[in-house]
Amino acid sequence: MTDRSVEKLRKTRDLSDDELRELIETSSHDEALRTAADEVRRENYGDMVYLRGLIEISSYCKRNCLYCGLRAENRNAERYRLSKEEILSCCEEGYGLGYRTFVLQGGEDSYYTDEMICDIVRSIKENYPDCAVTLSIGEKSRESYEKYYEAGADRYLLRHETADPAHYGKLHPANMSSENRKRCLFDLKEIGYQVGAGFMVGSPYQTTENLIADLRFLQELQPDMIGIGPYISHQDTPFRNEKNGTAELTLRMLSILRLMFPYALLPSTTALGTIRPDGRELGLKAGGNVVMPNLSPVQVRKKYAIYDNKICTGEESAQCRGCLERRIESAGYRAVTDRGDVKRS
Ligand code: 5AD
Ligand code: SF4
Ligand code: FES
Repeated sequence: MTDRSVEKLRKTRDLSDDELRELIETSSHDEALRTAADEVRRENYGDMVYLRGLIEISSYCKRNCLYCGLRAENRNAERYRLSKEEILSCCEEGYGLGYRTFVLQGGEDSYYTDEMICDIVRSIKENYPDCAVTLSIGEKSRESYEKYYEAGADRYLLRHETADPAHYGKLHPANMSSENRKRCLFDLKEIGYQVGAGFMVGSPYQTTENLIADLRFLQELQPDMIGIGPYISHQDTPFRNEKNGTAELTLRMLSILRLMFPYALLPSTTALGTIRPDGRELGLKAGGNVVMPNLSPVQVRKKYAIYDNKICTGEESAQCRGCLERRIESAGYRAVTDRGDVKRS
């Protein structure tokens, strides 16, 4: 079975807006998309799935993104922050489990000065020189990003959330802008980081045109990593009554991304596993090649509640490594624990 637009996307890594709109809005290409995406991932990465140990360092955030449970104005959110020692002991545990990338993610928490972040990064790199350190701590000045890079940070994740400035304005308060977010991403890239961007699928007010704009922005940025997941509502946000994104559209977008960006590192996200029990397995089969097991101390996991019903936060969560490895194998892939740097082609 051949599908002309899927074949064209695979060959040229591009389509017109009209062709993309058709792929995004209908389910009739899904099987062809998934098959082509899996072939392209295997050409570039074989059956390897990279593991990243995720450490959620702080649930404090000064921002007020309308969709997020950690927003500053959410008085019901439980807040915690990890000390340097706690972060290092997460790394110690993760290193023992075989992880060679640590992702330090958190809300925008002014408690951590640049000096503290640099000190933490330096210590991790000193203790584990064979590991990559990824930061995901939000919008900062170019100078701050430069300092973290000099301290040894290798990668930075900052989802652009939505590339359309008007849509961005509906998801964020007036003191945040799509323009500054993009500025951050281009600064990070120029400094030398491996950069991850990304967006939510099915966020409130999102249109097909917005998703096309996201793809166009990514073509311009050419990031190494692209993180996408369904929007999931959180009960204590202004968007509490908004509908969740779907697994179906998220999987479709993942396959489109794999065909447009054959070399990219594409995580099969926790949010996808939250809206559907087999979501992460399906994400791998649709083109994903990264999973990010939670390494945060078990007693804080429930507090990092960006959306409702997040998985991997209960009693079972100490075993994410084993759980995920079984899931990866059941989907037909192999978990690997090297640094997993991007393979540019
Ligand atoms: N549903 C899904 N994803 C969310 N994020 C924040 N809030 C939500 C939500 N309610 C995503 C954003 C952010 C990442 C850390 O989590 O894309 O960049
Ligand atoms: Fe803070 Fe990030 Fe949540 Fe926005 S999405 S409120 S910056 S943690
Ligand atoms: Fe976290 Fe299954 S991956 S409990």
